[in-house]
Amino acid sequence: MRSAVLIASLVSTSLALQLPFKVPFFQSSLAPEDDEPAAGSPKVAIVGAGAAGTSAAFWISKAQERFGVNIEVDVYEKTSHIGGRTITVYPHENNTLDPVELGASIFIKANKNLWRAAQEFNLTLQDFKGEQSEIGIWDGEQLLLRFTGGWWDTLKIIWRYGVMAPRRADSLVSEMLKKYSTLYTSDSPKWENITELAQSFGWMDLIENTGADFFTSHGVSKEYVFELIEAATRVNYGQNIDSIHALEAACSIAANGASQVAGGNWQIFDRFLNHSRANVYTDTKVTRVTQKQSKSRPWTVHSDKGAIGYKAVILAAPFHQTGIELPSALSSQIPEQPYVHLHVTLLTTTSPSLNSEYFSLSATDNVPSMLLTTYQGARQGRKAPEFNSISYHGKLNEDEWIVKIFSETPVEDKWLQSMFNGSVTWVHKAEFDAYPRLPPTSTFPPVKLESGFYYVNAFEPFMSTMETETVASRNVVDLLLNDEFQSSICGQRISASTKDAVSPEDDFVLGWDC
Ligand SMILES: Cc1cc2nc3c(=O)[nH]c(=O)nc-3n(C[C@H](O)[C@H](O)[C@H](O)COP(=O)(O)OP(=O)(O)OC[C@H]3O[C@@H](n4cnc5c(N)ncnc54)[C@H](O)[C@@H]3O)c2cc1C
Ligand SMILES: *[C@@H]1O[C@H](CO)[C@@H](O)[C@H](O)[C@H]1NC(C)=O
Ligand SMILES: *[C@@H]1O[C@H](CO)[C@@H](O)[C@H](O)[C@H]1NC(C)=O
Ligand SMILES: *[C@@H]1O[C@H](CO)[C@@H](O)[C@H](O)[C@H]1NC(C)=O
Ligand SMILES: *[C@@H]1O[C@H](CO)[C@@H](O)[C@H](O)[C@H]1NC(C)=O
Ligand SMILES: *[C@@H]1O[C@H](CO)[C@@H](O)[C@H](O)[C@H]1NC(C)=O
Repeated sequence: MRSAVLIASLVSTSLALQLPFKVPFFQSSLAPEDDEPAAGSPKVAIVGAGAAGTSAAFWISKAQERFGVNIEVDVYEKTSHIGGRTITVYPHENNTLDPVELGASIFIKANKNLWRAAQEFNLTLQDFKGEQSEIGIWDGEQLLLRFTGGWWDTLKIIWRYGVMAPRRADSLVSEMLKKYSTLYTSDSPKWENITELAQSFGWMDLIENTGADFFTSHGVSKEYVFELIEAATRVNYGQNIDSIHALEAACSIAANGASQVAGGNWQIFDRFLNHSRANVYTDTKVTRVTQKQSKSRPWTVHSDKGAIGYKAVILAAPFHQTGIELPSALSSQIPEQPYVHLHVTLLTTTSPSLNSEYFSLSATDNVPSMLLTTYQGARQGRKAPEFNSISYHGKLNEDEWIVKIFSETPVEDKWLQSMFNGSVTWVHKAEFDAYPRLPPTSTFPPVKLESGFYYVNAFEPFMSTMETETVASRNVVDLLLNDEFQSSICGQRISASTKDAVSPEDDFVLGWDC
């Protein structure tokens, strides 16, 4: 008995389409008339409703709007939440208060899809509250540096590291961002192979070297690399500068002008889905995807709700965390991908600053409200920091502040009480497989595992952010539309010649404006 009959709880039209199955799996030769009737729209499944999956649905809907491409899209999400690693919580679980980001918090103006989406969906952007704080760099035993203002324009930094280090690092990052911005022009490459994308951008140097080797070999002083840039890689990716590749290290220090959506970044992803008109199945875990000989529906997606046939599947979650069983010809192409297991502790406190004593400061000396860390002390035989970062995120009310802690190990309540002078008023602890471990590499999983089966998160070990997942999904949707529907998000590139001279400052965003 085919498991297809189990789908009774799903849409009745898809049930109707499933019933005439007579074709055994992997039948070697298949006459067209043996295929199940291709009645109704071709269907595409998207697994995962985070940044990647929701934007994939949105990109497909753009082709539908523009060219009438006829596709029915089903989005599967195992939780009840839209947004994946982008999620908020209410302090004190009180939903009359402003929600706070627990996962992905910030994006920058160079992140053109998110920026544009926030505008188009009338969402309000607000400055990231940490921006104006005093920043301190803690090595586990001493505060090496404290400064306020932007990252780069501070005299203290120049005093400690010289003029050239920040300037050289800055220009390396600008160069990277300039290349990156071509991804939003009509000249953007389309890629099945991420190594080849890196080659075409001249980025092999960035992905094949650690941030430490790359920046020091380009003349950035060692102190600057191992203190300031490492502080950024540790807060953004939970990894040290001598283990993370230079591309992600460069992304970590490109955080100027960080913004977030008032009320939660996840709203962008919710709006992507609503605008896409896709069918969304929340609380529906995909367990298995099987393949059979069929022109119109070669892929069967098995979930709590049964089994449904699709023309194509977009996997939009880190494969090894999905628990999905794939044909081994597909799964064998995706190497094990460790992720950083991150502990996020969100709390409120009536203590206006951290315990000075812990940081060897005098009782009257306030601890900086944003503490970043370096591993450099530990490399020299001193104590390693007990946390990756601790930051005050503004006031909740007259007498309470919101604080966020990132750490590799769970934070004990006793430790919290000593850090906040016994005045913690609420705690919320969460754990994430937050980002891939990103050692230098020149190989990545394929973007297309097989004809009609695409893997958005192949991009994550290259760049891992909300925005880059929407860029990776745009590329995947273009490949899919091209392969299976002789179309693309922007149709034939008839208008390409008039758009050739797009500068990075231009408002033009590929996929939105075509
Ligand atoms: C604490 C933290 C801070 C971060 N800070 C930032 C930041 O400031 N800026 C930034 O840009 N990025 C940040 N990131 C990274 C960012 O969150 C990710 O790069 C991005 O959200 C990944 O999106 P995604 O859609 O690829 O994956 P996910 O968001 O992980 O979405 C995958 C979805 O698939 C679902 N799923 C998994 N398995 C199945 C299954 N079998 N069936 C159905 N559904 C399934 C999951 O439930 C999930 O909803 C941060 C991440 C964390 C954890
Ligand atoms: C939620 O917060 C509001 C505003 O501070 C407050 O008036 C209300 O009493 C709180 N509700 C609960 C259940 O604590
Ligand atoms: C956003 O607001 C503008 C102006 O008020 C309106 O025209 C537009 O329809 C709104 N867009 C959405 C997606 O709500
Ligand atoms: C999007 O659609 C879902 C499901 O229909 C709905 O619950 C949600 O409120 C919608 N969001 C917006 C912003 O319209
Ligand atoms: C710590 O709390 C005590 C009382 O609970 C208070 O007297 C003291 O001033 C606080 N110290 C700091 C640094 O906030
Ligand atoms: C991607 O391209 C590189 C360089 O051309 C090649 O070595 C590698 O095998 C390709 N990877 C995949 C998955 O095809």
